[in-house]
Amino acid sequence: MSEPDVPKFDAPRHVAIIMDGNGRWAAARGLPRGEGHRRGVEALRRTVRAAGELGVQVLTIFSFSAENWSRPAAEIRELMGLLRRFIRHDLAELHGNNVRIRIIGEREGLDPDIGRLIAEAEELTRANDGVTLVVAFNYGARQEIARAARRIATEVAEGRLAAADVSVEKLAGFLDTTDLPDPDLIVRTSGEQRLSNFLLWQSAYSELVFVPTYWPDFDRAALESAISEYHRRERRFGGLVARTGS
Ligand code: FPP
Repeated sequence: MSEPDVPKFDAPRHVAIIMDGNGRWAAARGLPRGEGHRRGVEALRRTVRAAGELGVQVLTIFSFSAENWSRPAAEIRELMGLLRRFIRHDLAELHGNNVRIRIIGEREGLDPDIGRLIAEAEELTRANDGVTLVVAFNYGARQEIARAARRIATEVAEGRLAAADVSVEKLAGFLDTTDLPDPDLIVRTSGEQRLSNFLLWQSAYSELVFVPTYWPDFDRAALESAISEYHRRERRFGGLVARTGS
């Protein structure tokens, strides 16, 4: 009998994941790195499903960083191909499951067909109100903040915004993540313990959970375990009153 889709506990509203360890997963099995990435897409499908079942409202995944361009051309082609296939093969099913897709990151410099696929995925799923799947693609947090600063500078130069009105809230509104809640929980797989230019602004008060699992092995149990660890944390947001993760 399949498990009922009743959340076992209050899920964090927004979970963000740095999907790391595809290459090491493959190397440990004597397989090419590409196989690790392909199995990573399967882990992604499992995780989107699990996030919905557990009651997560926003799931952000780091799928191609602004720094990943330094990888060999063949691997870059492979990762671009995986995004194409993911959107082409999974879009209808994601849409059917009421998933809203949103892409963050720099679109300039991407192949035009990828730009079109991204726009199509966002457009088709815009009105869905299930899980929001935020795909960070060609994303770097410092670049995102610099883009926001450039736009603000233009607004100020053209007289639409007073410099004195540039507040935390105003700046946040110029980021790619405008309208999205900050991540409550950021999970990084593979044992590495750093953010690597992911959501640097938005992670100010996120709980960070690092798990040893390589991304292709990640599943619902691993997500539940990361969420349980989150619930053991006390969130104080700079104040004195503890709020457990919720
Ligand atoms: C990190 O593993 C993973 C990535 C750079 C890419 C993540 C991509 C996927 C899971 C598949 C693509 C999904 C979409 C939607 C495009 P790594 O290669 O850095 O692993 P390593 O540190 O062990 O070498």
